[in-house]
Amino acid sequence: PDNLRELSHKLGVWIGSAVDVTALAGEADYRTVLNREFTHITGENAMKWESIEAERGVYTWEAADAVVRNAQRNRQKVRGHTLVWHNQLPTWLTEGVADGSIDAKELRKILRDHIMTEAGRYRGKIRAWDVVNEVVDDDGNLRQTIWLTHLGPGYIADAFRWAHQADPHAKLYINDYNLEWDTDKINTTLNIVKDLKAKRVPIDGIGFQGHLGIQYDYPADFPNVMRQFTDLGLEAAITEADVRMVLPVTPEKLATQADYYKRMLSTCVADRRCVEFTVWGYTDRHSWVPGWFDGEGAACIMDENLNPKPAYNALLSVRKR
Ligand code: G3I
Repeated sequence: PDNLRELSHKLGVWIGSAVDVTALAGEADYRTVLNREFTHITGENAMKWESIEAERGVYTWEAADAVVRNAQRNRQKVRGHTLVWHNQLPTWLTEGVADGSIDAKELRKILRDHIMTEAGRYRGKIRAWDVVNEVVDDDGNLRQTIWLTHLGPGYIADAFRWAHQADPHAKLYINDYNLEWDTDKINTTLNIVKDLKAKRVPIDGIGFQGHLGIQYDYPADFPNVMRQFTDLGLEAAITEADVRMVLPVTPEKLATQADYYKRMLSTCVADRRCVEFTVWGYTDRHSWVPGWFDGEGAACIMDENLNPKPAYNALLSVRKR
């Protein structure tokens, strides 16, 4: 294959990228490469609550619409990200809950309305939704969020049921980070999935975010972890892959990074139920990593000038098995 789009067709796995809508609108080279290389896209921030409804009752769809429109024009599938999360919530919501002006009953209605409105607007246009994102904390407990605190653990099942009502054909996912290796999080998430399935809640997929760093050992058990979930009948996706490093960049670090990317894609290719491998931004020009980890960066498969890095070529070398 000459590019990732061709590879995607050869492997029978969608290969995606998160998209920065400002760059999509303003940078022709960014847009060209995105649409040449990828068969799936996710709005990096465009479909989050604070982007959609910054002011109560006032919906702003421009950015999210731009993602969907780009996908339709370029034969790309869309991952909707995300309906229920604890970050990037609008302040009217977090402040209203904090000062008691929004009570539990109203909060539940607000969540239902949000899911019905957003998933409803894009009904039929989203292949898969991250219905709930990062609901388990780093100790393996249900994360203490406004949702858990005020609505109780049943909010998770409710969210899936509402999303299914709004868009019956979208694949509905639970998505999390460190799920490639963190046993506490893995076990709790497996239990959540089993419980949802036992209650006939419409859950279809497990999303592994795939945020790795080369200063840590590669999570060698990841293939088995993925299998534990797909054995429950779920489809799987790697939803936000990137591999950061402590700067400066060296050829050795780039080689290790390439190996990590290749192993992640290979894990997906080896599991018949893994259908999508998406990177969290494809270029170091637009990446969340430098802003979040002091002294780290260069996490993507192309450099700031959109030149392929060794990781890009390593992905191209992955074969079906
Ligand atoms: O929109 C404002 C803009 O008006 C302002 O000028 C600018 C100044 O900093 O900030 C802009 O908001 C930023 C937003 O991204 C949009 O660019 C926020 O500060 C920044 O915190 C936010 O970061 C995003 C982060 O989620 C927030 O939680 C990253 O771009 C995004 O890549 C990251 O994505 C998450 C996934 O959703 C879930 N999994 C983990 C992943 C990485 O953290």
